[in-house]
Amino acid sequence: MKTGIQRSALIWTLTVCFFANTWGQDSTQKKWWKESVVYQIYPRSFKDSDGDGIGDLKGIISELDYIQRLGVNVVWLNPIYSSPNDDNGYDVSDYRNIMKDFGTMADFDSLIKGMHARGIKLVMDLVVNHSSDEHEWFKQSRSSRTNPYRNYYHWWNAERGKPAPRYSLFDVNHDAWRYDSLTNAYYLHYFSRKQPDLNWENPRLRQEVYDIMKFWADKGIDGFRLDAFQYVSKDTTFPQFPVGYENKFWLYYAMGPHLHDYLKEMNREVLSKYDVMSVAEGAGNSFDDAHALVDADRKELNMAYAFDGVDVAKKEGYSLLHFKEVFSRWDSAFAQNGWLSIFLSNHDQARLVSRFGNDSPAFRNPSAKMLATFIMTMRGTPYYYNGDELGMTNIGFKKIEEYRDMSMLNEYQHQKDLHADTIAFLKEKSFDSRDNGRTPFQWNKERNAGFTTGTPWIEVNPNFKTINVETEEADPNSVLIYFRKLVLLRKSEPTLVYGKYELLDKENPDVYSYTRSEKGHQILVMLNFTSHEAMARTGLDLTGKKLLIGNYATPSRSGRLRPYEAAVWEMQ
Ligand code: GLC
Repeated sequence: MKTGIQRSALIWTLTVCFFANTWGQDSTQKKWWKESVVYQIYPRSFKDSDGDGIGDLKGIISELDYIQRLGVNVVWLNPIYSSPNDDNGYDVSDYRNIMKDFGTMADFDSLIKGMHARGIKLVMDLVVNHSSDEHEWFKQSRSSRTNPYRNYYHWWNAERGKPAPRYSLFDVNHDAWRYDSLTNAYYLHYFSRKQPDLNWENPRLRQEVYDIMKFWADKGIDGFRLDAFQYVSKDTTFPQFPVGYENKFWLYYAMGPHLHDYLKEMNREVLSKYDVMSVAEGAGNSFDDAHALVDADRKELNMAYAFDGVDVAKKEGYSLLHFKEVFSRWDSAFAQNGWLSIFLSNHDQARLVSRFGNDSPAFRNPSAKMLATFIMTMRGTPYYYNGDELGMTNIGFKKIEEYRDMSMLNEYQHQKDLHADTIAFLKEKSFDSRDNGRTPFQWNKERNAGFTTGTPWIEVNPNFKTINVETEEADPNSVLIYFRKLVLLRKSEPTLVYGKYELLDKENPDVYSYTRSEKGHQILVMLNFTSHEAMARTGLDLTGKKLLIGNYATPSRSGRLRPYEAAVWEMQ
């Protein structure tokens, strides 16, 4: 018979073991945001309801049935708050209001109601590394050195001399310190001059942000995507960085001294009080950084959104071996703890199929489907950017006048100031510029692809007559129809969500093969990333196995894959 002390020691040991076990395995813990498929909408380019050439909330509302039919159950909306639109909404002038171009708060309320009625959750972009210079806080802050809002931003009085250099991603001369004669001081802006950085070291500012988050969470939203958040904490003594730091500025900007304190505070004050998902843009500079942001016991964020994968194809051409290596490395680093986002495109990237697949008429369809198969069968929450479900392609602007993205226009000016080769610059940008992913959504064959009755704010891709929702709805072989089937598969197969990932045939330069397995159930994925036939050497026998999905009408059991073939097999 056990004594009371022995019994409580036993209970204690069992409790510790139980928690150690769950702490050690948070990647298998069930959560709705792990089982979701996220669809990202760039509101400016999705659907215009009033003919001003700019997409809006009523436009999205009119297409909620389309979104529901995709099968996705979370929508991430790029910023819709009041903004002078220096950076298409990433410069917020009022966090509690809707941008005029996009509509009203009543529209927002209808939008969220319509989404929830269809079982779709809404994630909002939270842009709080910086605000717009037209935000009331900044107007106050710059008005005098003693204004109560002065410390909402980073100011450096000019009589101290010029502060140590800081690189600006978007400024025309990349100088992140902007002199303001009104108070004879410099303010900091990591992005454009119209995006002054907020001072997170100020507890009042932090409370303001938490109040804003509560305002939206109380309206019923289901999550936050924290824009550029890894940069918020700064060493406000602004020390000198080593020569050449600007080529690796992220190593100096990300994961500042108090970042985790702020995230823990935000979690305590807001995130833990609502059933919301949270994801920050970027995942630091190492696996340790990424884990420190998202492991469950950290009580900070839910999932990491790391750029290593999407960065594999920065320029034209990339190696599949490198691609496999990056995704496999990230997966194994997150096999026990933490959770990843899986994506290959967003509003800051060129189009998925142009970048990672093959957008020529012969291969656009199979390669877009193959890439979708990859994203939907990896471990981690899939993020799909609007238009990629149609296989929309890069527009490849040739002339600077065609561009709208402020960061592109400023960089072009910068290159000109340096007397650099602007022709080479334009050539590179026609492939990788952000505007490639921002051209209007292609709904039908009508004028402006059915996006607007007015003049679109950015040119419509001339290929809209063949690539559009209406045409693809009617074609059983379209990328759109395949995408829907794939989403259904993802949602009905827990193994695709939680199952262990194992890379097969690692050295194969053409084919990416892997298994996902859980509780005796195994799924095999084989993807030919080339425009020629290629042999998958998985060592697995496909005789008698069931094809769950594939992008060719007849499955091939030999392991010989046709150009861009994707095949997903149930093995046991
Ligand atoms: C993020 C956004 C990008 C924006 C920048 C500044 O990187 O994704 O679109 O320009 O932050 O807010």
